[in-house]
Amino acid sequence: MGCAATKDYSTQANGKCNCKCHQNGAPTNAPTDGGVEKFTDDPRLPLSGRQKFSLTKSWKAISRNISQAGMVMFVSLFEKHEVVRLFFVKTLNADVKSLSDLAENKKLQSHVASVMLTIDEAMTTLNDADHLIDMLTHIGETHVRFAGFLPEWFLLIEEPFLVAVKDTLGERYTLSMEDNYRKAIRFILDTLFAGFAKGKKISNE
Ligand code: HEM
Repeated sequence: MGCAATKDYSTQANGKCNCKCHQNGAPTNAPTDGGVEKFTDDPRLPLSGRQKFSLTKSWKAISRNISQAGMVMFVSLFEKHEVVRLFFVKTLNADVKSLSDLAENKKLQSHVASVMLTIDEAMTTLNDADHLIDMLTHIGETHVRFAGFLPEWFLLIEEPFLVAVKDTLGERYTLSMEDNYRKAIRFILDTLFAGFAKGKKISNE
């Protein structure tokens, strides 16, 4: 499916790309099918192999409705955090208050797509911690260039993300599923946060 960070969605015949975040040649369409035995525990992630397997399967339903899930997530984010909404108004000149405003705003939609593509890539490569951490760190670093951006804002996405997952999964959203999704999104957002801190340190040197 290509690379979320560089927006280069083309891949080589062998399914690999050579962008900065895939320096190790990690397959961008890493296999997510197969039995639970292919999902191994990795101490760097807060999820067991079995939890990663379960998330990977459940995520397919969200992946099929990814743009709707992204819109629900951002509307929920803007309802809860006016400061983030105002940042987008200023930075992207995108005055969005409702779902219909969001549906009409191309610049903001492009960011929603970038965010969801990143989360999709993360959810489909949970079993490849090297790639996952490199990719998310790099994307966190890219946000250093936005004047006035606060890295804490990444963390505000946790609840809106869970709202969108619940909205999409309906009755399939069980308590144990919620627990798995919460662990996964926290890991994703914490890694973006750490990437931002790394990028900031480099830019100050
Ligand atoms: C609320 C927090 C966030 C804010 C305020 C924010 C802000 C921005 C802005 C202003 C841009 C530039 C958009 C443009 O030029 O059209 C951007 C790009 C991007 N954002 Fe975010 N972002 C946030 C959270 C996230 C999250 C959580 C992810 C991933 C899960 C993400 C992934 C991306 C990606 C992949 C790009 C494109 C990077 C690039 O062009 O170099 N963002 N973000």
